[in-house]
Amino acid sequence: MTCAKRAGIVGVGSAVPDRVLTNFDLEKMVDTSDEWIRTMTGISERRIASEGEATSDFALKAGKAAIENAGLSPQDIDLIILATFTGDTPLPATACLVQHALGCEGTPAFDLAAGCSGFVYGLAVADAFVRSGHYERVLVIGADMLSCVTNWTDRSTCVLFGDGAGAAVVAPVNGDAGFLAFELGADGSGAKHLHIPAGGSRHPYTPEDLAQHRDKIVMEGREVFKFAVKIQGEATERVLARCGMTTADVDMIIPHQANTRIIESAVNRLGLPTEKFFVNLNKYGNTSAASIPIALDEAVAEGKIKKGDTVVTVGFGAGLTWAAGVMKWAY
Ligand code: ACO
Repeated sequence: MTCAKRAGIVGVGSAVPDRVLTNFDLEKMVDTSDEWIRTMTGISERRIASEGEATSDFALKAGKAAIENAGLSPQDIDLIILATFTGDTPLPATACLVQHALGCEGTPAFDLAAGCSGFVYGLAVADAFVRSGHYERVLVIGADMLSCVTNWTDRSTCVLFGDGAGAAVVAPVNGDAGFLAFELGADGSGAKHLHIPAGGSRHPYTPEDLAQHRDKIVMEGREVFKFAVKIQGEATERVLARCGMTTADVDMIIPHQANTRIIESAVNRLGLPTEKFFVNLNKYGNTSAASIPIALDEAVAEGKIKKGDTVVTVGFGAGLTWAAGVMKWAY
């Protein structure tokens, strides 16, 4: 198969756990308040997986929804990319579990690790595969279950995160629709600001690690905040410049849903009205690689994105990484 057409998103879907954890619930767990969390982050509640649920359960539901939204069946998918850092188990790739559950036997599937930027990294990989003609219909899923890597005794991080999954089908699209440009980046010197210290080849778990929560996320919130505020605006401006556009051409921005103050800083820097930024983090918190596709799915369902609209997705996360993409919405 060769493909001279552009690639674009032809279907989206998402799935979150049923269980809601509110700020008031957190008040009973750590020394915090609903007011602090809402003022400092914009989050009111988040969804948390129940016992027995795992990342692939939500990834599968989101993937199925995206395939159905695209009017396709799982057998039409010829590549599966799952952006996550909280797979069901360290081995094998959780994408393979999703592939099997979808009934796509033989379809290549792999996990992609780029923290909260993973979904947009995945879109860029899918775009390259579709445009090159290697694969025609790629399922890109962003799924994370942060509740299993959250230190529930650390008030500076446990109030931020939630669980969920979002997905998109990438395929050839007609006319001037589809992806116009991507801007991907990483700065490994910032790895120490957002990491899980133990559990890998550098530092396998010891009983002390588990007792001291070193198998959970450790974050320098201030450092990540400074990085996020800078990179979100810069990456958006750079990706628009790559396709000869400016912020004036943008109809909707889907930013990584980490903190309303970070999003507000982009509103100010880019000089766009707040209505052009889709925000739903009040309901879900920061769901890492799932945050952008969940927001994208909701924005489409609410009619906030229409055929022909110029849509920017922009994320940042552990690595430190960042990723932005511009597309003309195809349907
Ligand atoms: N409730 C009440 N007080 C708190 C809480 C809490 N949950 N957490 C921290 N505080 C206190 C601190 O102890 C500190 O108190 P002190 O002044 O007496 O020392 C005070 O609030 C200020 O704390 P800071 O950490 O300095 O507050 P900051 O303005 O940096 O806001 C926040 C913290 C919200 C975490 C912010 O740094 C942030 O959003 N950073 C970015 C995080 C992010 O986006 N991460 C996602 C990246 S991708 C990924 O996660 C995979």
